[in-house]
Amino acid sequence: MSAVEMKTACVTGGNGYIASALIKMLLQKGYAVKTTVRNPDDMKKNSHLKDLEALGPLEVFRADMDEEGSFDDVKPAAITPSSSPLR
Ligand SMILES: NC(=O)c1ccc[n+]([C@@H]2O[C@H](COP(=O)([O-])OP(=O)(O)OC[C@H]3O[C@@H](n4cnc5c(N)ncnc54)[C@H](OP(=O)(O)O)[C@@H]3O)[C@@H](O)[C@H]2O)c1
Repeated sequence: MSAVEMKTACVTGGNGYIASALIKMLLQKGYAVKTTVRNPDDMKKNSHLKDLEALGPLEVFRADMDEEGSFDDVKPAAITPSSSPLR
C-alpha cells in the first residue's frame, strides 16, 4: 500500500506506555501514524519511537495539551487520546 492510500491515525502522548503499544499495532496493521510528544528532543523518552519507524510511516510532532493550538499541525483521520497530564 502506498503512503497516499494509507489511513492515518494520530496517537497523542506517543512515548507513553499505552501509546507506544498502540503505535506499534497501528503500524503493523498498515496505518500511517502521527504521534505527539511534549519534547521530541528527549531521547530518553523517545528513542523507542525511532525503532518503531522501521515498521511503517511514523511522524513525531511536538504538542502539549496545556498549550492552546498546540495540536493544529497534526491533521489526522482519527485521534486516539493516550496522553494524560494527570498522575
Ligand atoms: N497503563 C494502564 O494500564 C492504563 C489503564 C487504563 C487507563 N490508562 C490511562 O491511559 C492513559 C495513558 O496511560 P499510560 O500508562 O500510557 O501513561 P504514561 O506511560 O505515563 O503516558 C502518559 C503520556 O502522557 C503524556 N503527557 C502528559 N502530560 C501531557 C500534556 N500536558 N500534553 C501532552 N502529553 C502529555 C506523556 O508525555 P511526556 O513524555 O511529554 O510527559 C506520556 O507520553 C492515562 O490517562 C491512564 O490513566 C492507563
